[in-house]
Parts: sequence; C-alpha cells; structure tokens
Amino acid sequence: MNNRTATILPFLTIILLLSTTYSFADGSTPQPQKETKQKIVNNSNSANDEASIKKQLQKKNTPDATTYINKYDQRQALPLNKAQQAHVLAEMRSLLDGIQGIIAALVSDDMEAVAKNSRPLGMGMKQNAENTLHGILPKAFMKLGKSVHMDFDKIADDAGRVKDSKHTLRQLSEMIKKCQGCHKSYRIEVKNQ
Ligand code: HEC
Repeated sequence: MNNRTATILPFLTIILLLSTTYSFADGSTPQPQKETKQKIVNNSNSANDEASIKKQLQKKNTPDATTYINKYDQRQALPLNKAQQAHVLAEMRSLLDGIQGIIAALVSDDMEAVAKNSRPLGMGMKQNAENTLHGILPKAFMKLGKSVHMDFDKIADDAGRVKDSKHTLRQLSEMIKKCQGCHKSYRIEVKNQ
C-alpha cells in the first residue's frame, strides 16, 4: 500500500459506512415512490369507464373515431376542422355559463330561475347544436353529450316540481361528473383543411 492510498482509505471507509446505514428519521430506508395510476371518473355511462376508453383507444380505424395517441396527452383525439372545433367549444362555453346561472339562482332559492337557466341546455339545444356533427363525432361521445342534455332537462323539470335546492345541487354534482369524464377521455385535434 503506498502512502496516498493509506491516507484516503479511512475516509473511504467512513463514506461507505455512512451510505449503507443511511435512513430516514423514522428509521425507514428510502423507497422509490410508487406510481399511482390515474383513475378515470366512473359514472353510469359505459362510454366513460376506464376499460371501455382503453378499448376505444386500441380500436384503430373505426369508422367513427380516429385514434391518435400523443405522448403528452393520451386522450382520444377527435379530428375536426376549425369551424367544427369552434362550434363544439362555443357549445361547451354555453354549458359552463348555464351551470353558473343555475348556481347563482340556487343561492337565492329561485327555482324558477334554475329552470330558466337549465332548459335551454336540454335536448332542444342538442337538436340545434350537435346534430350537425352527427357522423363526425364518435357515437360514444354523442351519447355522453346527449345524456348531459337530458340531465339539464331533468334539472329544469325538478326545479318546477320538487323545488328543492339541495336536490338540484345533487343533480348538478352528478352531471358535472360527466363533463369531467368526457374531458378526461377526449380532446380536439384540428385537421388541416
Ligand atoms: C361528450 C363530451 C363532453 C362533455 C359531456 C362535455 N364536454 Fe366540455 N369539452 C369537450 C371537448 C372535447 C372539449 C375540448 C377539449 C380539448 O380539445 O382539449 C371541451 C371543452 C370544454 C370547455 C373549453 C371551451 C373553450 O372555449 O376552450 C369548457 C368550458 C367545457 N368543455 C365545459 C363543459 C361543461 C361545463 C360540461 C358539462 C355540463 C361539458 N363541457 C361537458 C367535450 C365534452
């Protein structure tokens, strides 16, 4: 053993000892973080459960859906042109406006105003807004959209019949799960044309 090795050997031993006995204050040794799998919101609509979304993603070349998986965004892409995108997004903003109107009406227990804000977003809206996109948007997407419009009609109906703001809030909460479910599953991809 030469002189230099003799000098650094004690230091090396200390470092080695420190590294093997390293532990957290509670005595546990550091573990790599386990990845938690993101769960997709479950709701009654089958278009929305994790298994069926995966199935849709695997099913390429389906007549009603083009699958394009982006490294950064794994939602199913809906290929639309710019006009169709603007159409869908404008409808979406109306839904958000409607929800705001309903909540504002609930603050003052104004059930008439609840119905007034909710009704225009019911099936009547679907006839005017989405039907033009029939055959362009996937069936599962259309089905989920339709069920949201039916919920707005039900909220308007019950505001007139049940007249209970807690009941309306419960309905809103359940319906918003569908908004979340769809947003977690789909994104728009503008085609060049
Ligand atoms: C059937 C599917 C579906 C449902 C149900 C749905 N959305 Fe959307 N929404 C979309 C898609 C697709 C986009 C575009 C997302 C993207 O490209 O990243 C969008 C975008 C939006 C936007 C952004 C609009 C903009 O101008 O950029 C808002 C706000 C929105 N949705 C509100 C709602 C609300 C509120 C509900 C429920 C009442 C709802 N959406 C239900 C599919 C849906």
